[in-house]
Amino acid sequence: MAQSTGPRKVKCAVFISGTGSNLKSLIHFSKKKKSPISINLIISDNSKAKGLKFGKIYKISKKVFNYKNRIHAEKKIISEIKNKNIKFIFLAGFMRILSKNFIQNFKGKILNIHPSLLPSYKGLNTHQRVIANNEKYSGCTVHFVSSKLDSGKIILQKKVKISKHDTAKSLAKKVLIQEHKLYPKAIRKVFNL
Ligand code: GAR
Repeated sequence: MAQSTGPRKVKCAVFISGTGSNLKSLIHFSKKKKSPISINLIISDNSKAKGLKFGKIYKISKKVFNYKNRIHAEKKIISEIKNKNIKFIFLAGFMRILSKNFIQNFKGKILNIHPSLLPSYKGLNTHQRVIANNEKYSGCTVHFVSSKLDSGKIILQKKVKISKHDTAKSLAKKVLIQEHKLYPKAIRKVFNL
């Protein structure tokens, strides 16, 4: 008798550089029956990235690439991704800038999450800058990756209220909680669900 394997899920890779809390939330999302994606590969530029442990925990292949030479690293990543038949890439705290050539290879298939309400506060040290400017709100954004840093088409955003007592650290925590909800929601939107 033919076995039912359920609806086919789109194979995806997640790129990380650090803790990987967004990776964890994406893995949980991918395991839901109605999720359109499966996570089949974790890529990092940092062999010490804490998030790599999720590869072991959830039995997902993980690969670390030495970024001393970006062109070389990206060449290897592209061949790894194509070999594994990966169709989508989710950047989740990946602290490297992808080359134009890399982005061109996966046009419209790379998403990123950024911890601010883009187009405000592109780049690094977002929370410190937001607090220093006494902003009343911050938030997070999921967007398509284009060749201009943090500038591709926005998919979804979530606003977070900043209190008088917030520090960069407490704000980062608040925003991260929303990131974990926003990224799966944005993926569902991209897949028209
Ligand atoms: C997240 O806040 C993510 O938005 C941010 O790094 C953190 C990674 O946390 N990304 C960027 O700043 C990209 N420019 P995580 O490793 O726990 O998911």
